[in-house]
Amino acid sequence: MVDIDWENLGFNYMKLPFRYLSYYKDGQWDEGRLSDDALLHLSESSPALHYGQQAFEGLKAYRTKSGAIQLFRPNKNAERLQKTADRLMMPHVPTDKFIKACQAVVKANQEFVPPYESGATLYLRPLLIGVGDIIGVQPANEYIFTVFAMPVGPYFKGGLAPTNFVVSYDYDRAAPLGTGAAKVGGNYAASLLPGHYAHTQQFSDVIYLDPATHLKIEEVGSANFFGITSAGEFVTPLSPSILPSITKYSLLELAKTRLGLEAIEGDVYIDELDRFTEAGACGTAAVISPIGGIQNKDDFHVFYSETKVGPITQRLYDELVGIQFGDILAPKGWIYPVEI
Ligand code: PLP
Ligand code: COI
Repeated sequence: MVDIDWENLGFNYMKLPFRYLSYYKDGQWDEGRLSDDALLHLSESSPALHYGQQAFEGLKAYRTKSGAIQLFRPNKNAERLQKTADRLMMPHVPTDKFIKACQAVVKANQEFVPPYESGATLYLRPLLIGVGDIIGVQPANEYIFTVFAMPVGPYFKGGLAPTNFVVSYDYDRAAPLGTGAAKVGGNYAASLLPGHYAHTQQFSDVIYLDPATHLKIEEVGSANFFGITSAGEFVTPLSPSILPSITKYSLLELAKTRLGLEAIEGDVYIDELDRFTEAGACGTAAVISPIGGIQNKDDFHVFYSETKVGPITQRLYDELVGIQFGDILAPKGWIYPVEI
C-alpha cells in the first residue's frame, strides 16, 4: 500500500502512475491506451485552448468493506459527456469506451483507491478536448479523450459539518440559453471571480440565481442545491441552465423510494428560504454538504443549524454513501464493479 495520510486528504491534484488516453482522427477513435506520461501534447492552435471547445466529467471509485472497488453510475457520466459534446460539436465517446477507460484507470492505479472507512475516494476526471491545427472559430477535427485520477477527501472543508454560502447578484455562471447544462470549462472560468470573492469572505461557495430574472436559486458553483421542507419534501431547482447532477437525480430517487419523502424538481425562489428546514449542496465532489446559512444581500438565513447537520440530510447522506461504498443495496444498475 502507498504511504498516504488518507484521513486528511483534501481535494487536490496528485499525479498517479497511469491515465487513459485516446485520440480521435479521421472520424474515429483509436483503441486507446494507458500511459505513464501525465503531460498532454497538443497543437498551440487547439480549439480547446482558444475557444473553450472542451468538456469534462467527475466520478468516483469506492473501496468496499470487502476490499473490492466499484464505480457509481458511470454510464450517467458517459451520457452527460455525450450531451455536452453535442452542445459543443464534439464527437461522442461511446458509453462502453468511457466506462472501460474508467475501469482501466482505476485498476492500473488501484493502490491509490483509499481504504474503506478512511472517508476518502478515488476521484476520476474524464476530459474531452478539441485539438489540432485550426485557428478560425470552428469545431476541431481531432480530439483527445483522457481519464486521470487521484485520491481525494472532502471538497468543502466541513465535510458533513454545515458551511455557509453567499448569493451572487453581480455575476452569473451561465446564460439563459447558454452552456449552463453542459459540463464545460467556460462555466467554471466564469465562476472563478465570484468564487474568489466568496472565499475571501469565508463562504464555501456561491449560490447562483437564474440568469434571466435573478429570482430563483439555480445551483452552487460546484454542486446542485436542495432543500427539505417541514412537510417532508425534498426540493431541488429545475432549470435549463444548471448542470444536471447525477447525485441530485440519485437523491431525488432515494428521497422518494427509501425515505418516503415527496421529491420535487421545481422553482426555488430566493425570497422563500423560510420554506426549508434543511438545505444542502450535492455533487460527486461535494457528496452531500449541508448548508448552514445563506448570505442573501443583507440577510443571513440559517437553515437547520450552523454547526449540526439536519436529520433528513443525515439520512440522505447515509443512504447515498452507504450505496456508494457497498454497505446498502443499490437500485438496479447503479453500481459497476472494477475487476482488480
Ligand atoms: N453542478 C455543478 C456546477 C458541478 O460542477 C457539479 C459537479 O459535477 C454538480 C452540479 C454535481 O453533479 P454530479 O452530481 O453529477 O457530480
Ligand atoms: C464534480 O463534483 O465532479 C465536479 O466536477 C465539481 C468540481 C468543479 C470539482
